Amino acid sequence: MRYADRMSRVGPSAIRDLLRHGADPAIISFGGGYPDPALFPTDDLRAVYDELLAGDPSALQYCPSNGLPSLREHVARRLARDGIACGADDVLIIQGAQQGLDLAGKLVLNPGDTVVTENPTFLGALIAFNPLEPTYAPVRTDDDGMDPADLERVLAESPRARLLYTVPDFQNPTGVTMSLERRRALIDLANRYDLLVVEDTPYRALRYDGEALPTLKSLDTEGRVLHLGSFSKILAPGMRLGWAVASPEILDKLTLLKLAADTQCGTLNMAAVSLYLDRYDIDAHIASVRAVYRDKRDLMLKTLADAFPGTTRFTSPTGGLFTWLTFPEGFDTTAFMRDTALPKARVTYVPGASFFAGEPEHNHARLNFSGLSEEKIVDGLTRLGAHLT
Ligand SMILES: Cc1ncc(COP(=O)(O)O)c(C=O)c1O
Repeated sequence: MRYADRMSRVGPSAIRDLLRHGADPAIISFGGGYPDPALFPTDDLRAVYDELLAGDPSALQYCPSNGLPSLREHVARRLARDGIACGADDVLIIQGAQQGLDLAGKLVLNPGDTVVTENPTFLGALIAFNPLEPTYAPVRTDDDGMDPADLERVLAESPRARLLYTVPDFQNPTGVTMSLERRRALIDLANRYDLLVVEDTPYRALRYDGEALPTLKSLDTEGRVLHLGSFSKILAPGMRLGWAVASPEILDKLTLLKLAADTQCGTLNMAAVSLYLDRYDIDAHIASVRAVYRDKRDLMLKTLADAFPGTTRFTSPTGGLFTWLTFPEGFDTTAFMRDTALPKARVTYVPGASFFAGEPEHNHARLNFSGLSEEKIVDGLTRLGAHLT
């Protein structure tokens, strides 16, 4: 078959291979980024699906491409409480935040245009943008997020920069959060260089310490921030529902792209989430999820400090699902996984190299703490640590 040029940029990811290993019960997997399935509100969801299917059949019908009005209303109300002034018509319901990345890329990228990213960045975003054949311009990123001085340098050197992709809250893979000062600087630079800012916030509600910082969308002065959110980590990823909020002009175009891609999200799932939000207190649910993940994070950080050599550095995330390890220069986490972690310690993680849009660094690993029991967190890290010393 003669494939399109873009297919040269589409290939299997390291994460896919790892998830396969993760399915072996003898192996403890810190890869993936799964929520703890024990926390899914299964009984409540069963009740809302029952109620929907017992009533009139409208939940099985087509609905508008931008999503079920009652769900858009719920999302807009929640976002307004989070400082984003918006109404139901400013919300587009999408198949998880991941679809927002695909649509955002289609909206602004021609082949050869530049996507500016954190360094490292979310692998799924690279997977979404790659078929559009962009180049990438990674920006130095530290414990306060993307460094504005380096961002300015990158933008001055990237005449074809069109899209700036960021995960400001509890980033994947590092767990770090962008400071308020840097959020403001980022908006100034995006205005100056005429960029679409894609603010991806699937972890925003999973804060374990401190106070929320304003979203980039709430600081947006020129309608150039596309804010993406998701029900995946606060309800259930299998429902594949998230939201996009942007200026009317951008949202109209995204809605047309959504129509072209898949017509609409599944009406039944949208109706189920909307009814769940009518009937139950999702904030109480999120608070219980946060309490569990906070404990798991604390346990992971304590066990890393106890079981790993002192030369291993790791981030202390104030939310989200991940910590990011940095081993001494020269240590290769991909080789270590292949030769030691998997066959001897029977533990997996995601080697850091896959998260670099440019030149990969090989001495990092991403560890997830949400998807494993406390026992497995301790057991897995102790096993891994024993092979590191
Ligand atoms: C930063 C980031 N963006 C987007 C996604 C995709 O999430 P969703 O399930 O909402 O499509 C993920 C999933 O892990 C993520 O970590």
